[in-house]
Amino acid sequence: MNISYFTDLNDIKKIRTVGKLSAEVLEFIQCYVKPGISTGKLNNICNNYIINKQHALSASLGYQGFPKSVCISVNDVVCHGIPSNKKKLKFGDILNIDVAIVKDGFYGDTSKMFYVGTPNILAKRLCDITQKSLYLAICIIKPGVRLRELGKVIQKFVEAEKFSIVREYCGHGIGRSFHEDPQVLHYDTDDNGIVLKSGMVFTIEPMVNAGKCHVHVMKDGWTVKTKDHSLSAQYEHTVLVTECGCEIITLRSDEKYNEIFNHRILL
Ligand code: MF3
Ligand code: CO
Ligand code: CO
Repeated sequence: MNISYFTDLNDIKKIRTVGKLSAEVLEFIQCYVKPGISTGKLNNICNNYIINKQHALSASLGYQGFPKSVCISVNDVVCHGIPSNKKKLKFGDILNIDVAIVKDGFYGDTSKMFYVGTPNILAKRLCDITQKSLYLAICIIKPGVRLRELGKVIQKFVEAEKFSIVREYCGHGIGRSFHEDPQVLHYDTDDNGIVLKSGMVFTIEPMVNAGKCHVHVMKDGWTVKTKDHSLSAQYEHTVLVTECGCEIITLRSDEKYNEIFNHRILL
């Protein structure tokens, strides 16, 4: 397997820029997430921002035929929800907005959960645990660590909470293309021999279900739902492996490095 890594500071600067822009879309859209707005409208607001303010392009639009600019996955939708003017948000919904953009030949990819009003206790716990599992994986990243350790940490933490990890989708290398090697699994396997190296850039994006792990794809060919209709959550960051740890390329202003790396004490 050929895994790219970056040593040229100019390339790394471009990766940082596109990562920051991706994160800024999630920050910008926050105030529009209200009962009554449609996911189609949220998509258009994001796309206008990406094009007109960021002078970038959505990487999702047209990707393998995907028809919209961001993925919006509500409640039991696990991922790849297609924004629609008919899908209006209701009080208590939880949703993931997944933003992937390209600028100057480099890609960034990130997602987070949003609440419409106040979520119920289970929904809130599901989102919190999913985000923490991502942070736990981020905490152990440094050169020399095996990639499979990330999946191990995520799975152990999530399953201890009696939630389940979706197996069908994984994180991925990213940089000059949207999806590249390696695959970043969110559960343990015995066949992942990749050792992390400084300069590697990849995403981690655990999808966690409140019920069973099984999912199915709807007739539209994209929308993935939990089979048992339980809620699902996902958080995604793009990270760069550094000499002594990692840099979160898609860090948002509501996230602080010291709080994220404090999750080390849970390990
Ligand atoms: N952003 C997704 C990921 O994290 C991929 C979405 S592909 C799309 O890898 F076509 F559905 F947008
Ligand atoms: Co991704
Ligand atoms: Co994504």
